[in-house]
Amino acid sequence: MVIDDPVRAIGLPGIDPELSEAGVGRMVVLRPWRDGDAGDLVAAWADPEIRRWTAVPEPADLKAARRWIAGWDERRRRRLALDLVAADPADDRVLGEVGLSSFDDDRSAARIGWWTAPGERGRGVATAMVAAMTAWAHARPLGLQAVVAEVDEANPASLVVAHRAGYRPLERPSGTARVTAAPLLVSWAGAS
Ligand SMILES: CC(C)(COP(=O)(O)OP(=O)(O)OC[C@H]1O[C@@H](n2cnc3c(N)ncnc32)[C@H](O)[C@@H]1OP(=O)(O)O)[C@@H](O)C(=O)NCCC(=O)NCCS
Repeated sequence: MVIDDPVRAIGLPGIDPELSEAGVGRMVVLRPWRDGDAGDLVAAWADPEIRRWTAVPEPADLKAARRWIAGWDERRRRRLALDLVAADPADDRVLGEVGLSSFDDDRSAARIGWWTAPGERGRGVATAMVAAMTAWAHARPLGLQAVVAEVDEANPASLVVAHRAGYRPLERPSGTARVTAAPLLVSWAGAS
């Protein structure tokens, strides 16, 4: 699928209602990052697991967090990334993050990444937010054919999350070399 208007295609006004209909119950609400989230972002960036498995700026301080949040809308408008907070529906606190990036219109594909705040793990937050974002990415307005997750074999919790959210290992023709260090898992449109 060719997206004829990239800015509108990932425009945010329609996201929250559509995501909340994505069949994940009341576990999380996906919303944009706000300046008031900077402290939570710094805390997440300080977590050893998040540092190990995701890209964290250096220094990962309050100034960097505010700058990253301030750049949120520009990254969206320039179609570089759509990073969303998975917030608690009851009090809006940051439970985690899920984001799309590396949009590839020729392949109708994008990459997905995620983390859950250390104190919020083990109760389904990541599964809910990844499933919601994936369902939304396959639906209108983006209508992606493929969403790709890069999950290291040494990260079993994330493998569980990816599988539960419908991701399956990318089949490679036998004998082909890996192009990235970590295995790729894909969610295909129409697969369940
Ligand atoms: C991976 C991560 C996102 C999981 O978040 P979460 O909100 O705790 O995930 P969920 O609760 O939805 O599901 C995790 C599942 O993995 C399971 N799990 C956790 N550690 C595990 C392990 N070492 N081996 C096998 N399963 C494990 C959990 O028990 C849970 O399954 P359960 O519901 O049957 O108990 C979180 O640990 C994290 O942010 N890690 C650091 C960042 C990261 O790895 N990001 C992804 C990069 S690809």
